[in-house]
Amino acid sequence: MLVSILPEKIIVRIGFVQYNVAFGDQRRNQEEIVSLLGDERFDLLVVPELCLSGYYMPSREHACKLATSFGEGETFDFFHSLADKHQGAIVFGFPEQAGNKLYNSAAAVLPDGSQYLYRKAHLFNLEKSWFDPGDTGFAVFAFRGARIGMMICFDWFFPEAARTLMLKGADIICHPANLVFDYCQQAMPTRALENAVFTITSNRTGADRVGNEIISFTGRSRICDTRGTILAAAGIDTDELHVVDINPNLARNKLFTPNNDILADRREDLYF
Ligand code: ACM
Repeated sequence: MLVSILPEKIIVRIGFVQYNVAFGDQRRNQEEIVSLLGDERFDLLVVPELCLSGYYMPSREHACKLATSFGEGETFDFFHSLADKHQGAIVFGFPEQAGNKLYNSAAAVLPDGSQYLYRKAHLFNLEKSWFDPGDTGFAVFAFRGARIGMMICFDWFFPEAARTLMLKGADIICHPANLVFDYCQQAMPTRALENAVFTITSNRTGADRVGNEIISFTGRSRICDTRGTILAAAGIDTDELHVVDINPNLARNKLFTPNNDILADRREDLYF
């Protein structure tokens, strides 16, 4: 009897937007996202880290002023109505106020109104003076047959983040980012390949300024497949929307060769 090892084919349309976030101008950033999306259909869209507030905070107090509670306020009204309009899930980054804590967080909002939270585990450089380190860990939720996980920007530098999401069953890793170097864009095909998952990195363009200090961002958002092939890529400083159709079930096949299952071959006995 012939046994098929091909995973069941389901099609999920995934994408990202990339744009120049205007610091502190929530309205303008919302308009930018709406205009990039037009009437595009998607199942899962990723929007950059701190996508409505901007990145370079003059102080923690300033970051507090731009922050919102998970699931509340204009930020969540906006993304819930967008998820409803496009009938797709949206993952986006926002500064989160939770009691006296301030996190660099990502939320996933679904068209049925449900929502999930991730708080950035690995804070980058000056973020350590604005935000508290995340405490949610790495979780996976299911939507339209795909299992989806979130990590934020500098988390890429710690392969444990993507690996943990893969071990928890993620098929697709959503990766909102505000990348200031371009090492990550080179590394993401490897993160995708070594975990046999799809990755969606949504980076921003442009620059933020505090006084005479300027931080510039490196664009080049990308979607990678389970073999590390780049399925969609944006330019360095252009506003762009990309969507591609994928079969997330391909990420359930962890065979790299007929004799190498990347899950079964792990040597946990040797790793410490
Ligand atoms: C970064 O983690 N935003 C570089």
